[in-house]
Amino acid sequence: MSVDLVLKNSKIYLYGRVIDAGLAIDNGRIVKVAKESNLPQASERMDLDGLLVLPGAIDVHVHLRDQDLSYKEDFYSGTCAAANGGVTLVVDMPNNKPVTMSREALRERMNIASRRIVVNVAFYSAFPREIDEIGHIIQEGAKAFKTFLSHKVGGINPNDREKLLRAFRELSKNNVPVAVHAEDGTLLNEKIRELKLKGRDDFRAYLEAHSPRVEVAGIRGAIRLAEEANAHTHICHVSISDGLKIIFEAKRRGLPISCEVTPHHLFLSSQHLERIGNVALTNPPLRSSADMMYLRRTLQKGLIDVVASDHAPHASKEKEGSSVWDVSAGIVGLETTLPLMLTMVNKGQLSLSTLVRVLMENPAKIFRFKRRGLISEGYYADLVVIDMKKEWTIDPSEFYSKAKFSPFEGWHVKGKPVKTFVNGTLVMEDGEITGKPGYGKIVKR
Ligand code: DOR
Ligand code: ZN
Ligand code: ZN
Repeated sequence: MSVDLVLKNSKIYLYGRVIDAGLAIDNGRIVKVAKESNLPQASERMDLDGLLVLPGAIDVHVHLRDQDLSYKEDFYSGTCAAANGGVTLVVDMPNNKPVTMSREALRERMNIASRRIVVNVAFYSAFPREIDEIGHIIQEGAKAFKTFLSHKVGGINPNDREKLLRAFRELSKNNVPVAVHAEDGTLLNEKIRELKLKGRDDFRAYLEAHSPRVEVAGIRGAIRLAEEANAHTHICHVSISDGLKIIFEAKRRGLPISCEVTPHHLFLSSQHLERIGNVALTNPPLRSSADMMYLRRTLQKGLIDVVASDHAPHASKEKEGSSVWDVSAGIVGLETTLPLMLTMVNKGQLSLSTLVRVLMENPAKIFRFKRRGLISEGYYADLVVIDMKKEWTIDPSEFYSKAKFSPFEGWHVKGKPVKTFVNGTLVMEDGEITGKPGYGKIVKR
């Protein structure tokens, strides 16, 4: 037998252990993991110099934009950023222009993406106006749905609880997960109005509006929907200890809930917001250092299901403005998430197996990506090669993302993705994109 590619002289993360071995790849799949002498003939043999091979990261919270928002990011720039960050599959959020909320809109988005993506992409849809349309969107290939409780994105007003519940029930019936931006819109918008009337427009006002209370209310609302509809509900970017505690309690009761945290909430607090300014403005906002520490502790203990970037690019002009209400919220993270997490591993703050669980295995399980998220025979050859010893400084001017700013600018990190393989093809090597637009595949339901 001769295969397409053999990766030799590597350390491979295999079922919780790191072993000295190599990999054979054929037709985009891993066909063998073995010692070098037991690997087959190959058209190409690549020596990995003893570097670590992990499953490619799966980032389930990415705003790739494109279409009318392509000035912020497009499928090519966003997936190049993913490749550079060791991310082989991203799940694209629906708050686009036009909003992904119908079969036609999703089809159009997939059409455009298929010619431009360098890594694999799956799609969220927002809820459509008509519940009946949900089934069609699923048929078209949406992997999951996303709903914002903070404001209306898509066809259902977050105040319309009856309709939301019907939508959740429809997803439960189809066994499709729903991700929730859990900030309670009623409380949030009341507070924003009140603060604006008082002429408040500083970071403190922003934090008062997007308060822990607003997030707790959002999370409670999401959990109630999950429980009543028995729908798998994924709570995005949990930023506060009280939020996580409620989620852990719901999980103990056996409810179908998963939770996600972002690197910015794990590494930054509201003190950074005051210091860094608009670049660090995001929803939910950066929180107290006590919250940040709680997130880290629960991550270390293995209680967090997923770490995702919430990669939310904006034009630099949109991050300017003297009033905080005029500034676009969002932090880019595709190129920093894995390095920041690897740095935790290097510092002894996180086990490699927890990293792999939250960035690769759990995202694949929760969002039902078959044959991804693991290194195993028969699985897709979505892989990242890591130089664990490489120390470097985060420089956003080198990002492939169009948003060349980050609250992590200047951070010293240790551990770098140096090669990214998508479906068996090398798409990034030493920070250079070797993949062509269209190499990535659309992963449908
Ligand atoms: O900060 C954020 N930015 N939070 C969101 O929920 C949306 C995102 C965006 O799309 O820019
Ligand atoms: Zn969100
Ligand atoms: Zn988001």
